[in-house]
Amino acid sequence: MNSSETKPVKVAILGLGYVGLPVAQQAVAAGFSVTGFDLSERAVGGLNGGHSHVDDIRDSEVQAMILGGFSATSEVGDIAGHDVYVICVPTPLSPGGGPDLSAVESAGRTVAHGLASRCTCGS
Ligand SMILES: NC(=O)c1ccc[n+]([C@@H]2O[C@H](COP(=O)([O-])OP(=O)(O)OC[C@H]3O[C@@H](n4cnc5c(N)ncnc54)[C@H](O)[C@@H]3O)[C@@H](O)[C@H]2O)c1
Repeated sequence: MNSSETKPVKVAILGLGYVGLPVAQQAVAAGFSVTGFDLSERAVGGLNGGHSHVDDIRDSEVQAMILGGFSATSEVGDIAGHDVYVICVPTPLSPGGGPDLSAVESAGRTVAHGLASRCTCGS
């Protein structure tokens, strides 16, 4: 198989904040096919309209990401069957002083849903 026949690696980034959006930007720059997933429909709508909600990323940089194939979504089905999943969701302190991992657990369930679509178990 030559390089022109190679399928692009599909990367899903969960959480498009101060960490996830720059990670998505670098993944697009590296040539990956990148889908961003965030529960915030406001953030998703803004990004798909070419607007950044993150201080470190300019609108023009989001627009360049879109030209590079990036899209954002809040639909779990849109990140099914990806090759790589990167979780960049908040881990605030819980009232007890430890990390509140509820967003990580939620994102983990989203990834499990995406991976289940790739499973050939039993077939
Ligand atoms: N910002 C930093 O400088 C920094 C540095 C080191 C480590 N971190 C760690 O990186 C992680 C992400 O931090 P951040 O600053 O990017 O947070 P952030 O608040 O800027 O962004 C998090 C994004 O995740 C989304 N989100 C929340 N729950 C979600 C879920 N279940 N599925 C999908 N999206 C979800 C939110 O809507 C938000 O857009 C945290 O664990 C943080 O501790 C951050």
